[in-house]
This record gives sequence, C-alpha cells and structure tokens, in this order.
Amino acid sequence: MRKKVIAGNWKLNNDLNESLSLVSELKSKLPDLGLNEVIVCPPYTSLESVNAVIKDSPIKLGAQNMHEADSGAYTGEISAQMLKSVGCEYVILGHSERRTIFNESDELINLKVKKALSKQLQVIFCVGETLEERESGVTNKVVEEQVKKGLNEIPESEIKNIIIAYEPVWAIGTGKTATPGQAQEVHQFIRSLVRNYYSEVTAQNIIIQYGGSVKPDNASELLSQPDIDGALVGGACLKSDSFIQIIKAV
Ligand code: PGA
Repeated sequence: MRKKVIAGNWKLNNDLNESLSLVSELKSKLPDLGLNEVIVCPPYTSLESVNAVIKDSPIKLGAQNMHEADSGAYTGEISAQMLKSVGCEYVILGHSERRTIFNESDELINLKVKKALSKQLQVIFCVGETLEERESGVTNKVVEEQVKKGLNEIPESEIKNIIIAYEPVWAIGTGKTATPGQAQEVHQFIRSLVRNYYSEVTAQNIIIQYGGSVKPDNASELLSQPDIDGALVGGACLKSDSFIQIIKAV
C-alpha cells in the first residue's frame, strides 16, 4: 500500500505573521496521520519560522521553487542548499505557474530536479495539460513529454525521492476539478510511463498526487481512486479548517 501525501502550496500568500498563525492552527488540529504525510510549502520568507513551529510535529516543510545553480550572480534567486539550511525536505518543481508565467522549460525543470536530488531534497514534480490541449485530445502526449523530459537522466535509484503531481492547468485555481475518472485515467497513464522507463516495482511505489481545485467536498472521491496517492492543494490549504478536512479525507 502506498502512503497518501497531502501538500499545501501557499503560493504568493501569507506574510510572516499570517504564516505563523496558519501553521500553528494546522499543527494544533492535525489528526493522527498514520503512515501518511502532510507537507506545507510557504513562501521563502516564512520557511525558517514555519520550520521552528513544525519541528516537533509530523508536518514536513517544502519550498515552491529553487534555482538550478549552487551559487553565483543570480539576483533574487534561492539555491537547494539554502532551502536545506532552513529545514526544507521538499521542493515543488515544474508547477504550471512557473512553466507559463516564468517561462520554465522542460529542460530547465530537469536541471532543477537533478540539482534538488543531488542536495537530498525530495521533489514534487508537476505536470499537466492546458484546456486547449485536453480539448484537442493530446493530454497523454503532453503529459508524456513533460514526464519524459523532466525525468531525463534521473536514475531509478532516485525515483523514490520524487513525487509526481498531475495538475491539469484548466483545473488550477478555477474551481473546475477533473472528475475522479478523468484524473484516474491520467494517473494510471503516468504510472505506466514510469513502468516503461524504470520497472514495475518503481511504478508501484511512486506517489502520484492530483492537484487542481481540490476541496473538502471532492477530496475523498479523488483520493479513493486507485492511482491517486495524495493531493497538491492550493486555494483550500490557506484556511486551516479546509486543509484539515482534506487531510481527514485520506
Ligand atoms: P488550487 O491550486 O488548489 O488552488 O487549484 C493547486 C496548485 O496549483 O497546486
């Protein structure tokens, strides 16, 4: 049985005080997780302080992005080692907002994935098609390309440190969720890609999260699909009650 992993992507929300109150509420209301995992991904400016709050709890810390270089003249950027040094265990890479608004290519995302893994950060690697792509019937082709290029030259031994998040772009922040059937179909396809690139065991073990308007009222149906192993939650993770309800849906 694969564990379920619920991650909250705070995006560009919450200053330091807001971050501290949200994470303190989460910590105090957190149900017993068993083998399952909960990750919070605050903005960079709150990482260290949030880490101090969750240190003695099962909640794990993740960042929302990083630069692919170790150091250098890259004004405004943050390295994998910097994230590690403030307590991050995870980093989200390849989010559709990074791909579209910040023009991140599959090749760049692949460099970031490799760098994160080399610094012992676990990666939440996001893929997903746009509405136009879904409507023209190329969802699998687009997702396959993203998975193939994003995982290029990543050895099988490292795949256990990668979570793939399937996030249809048309479902992110729109209130439109993929139906459990639509999501399951792509999740199953992604697992088959991992089987082709690596092995049956690796395909069976990899965690594949769904993301895109996950809410308390749709979480349990999505999470009960056989190939959906968790959720990457945006909007609904910004209030402790709705995030806790999603966690409880597991
Ligand atoms: P959403 O965002 O839950 O607000 O749709 C999900 C994400 O972008 O990770």
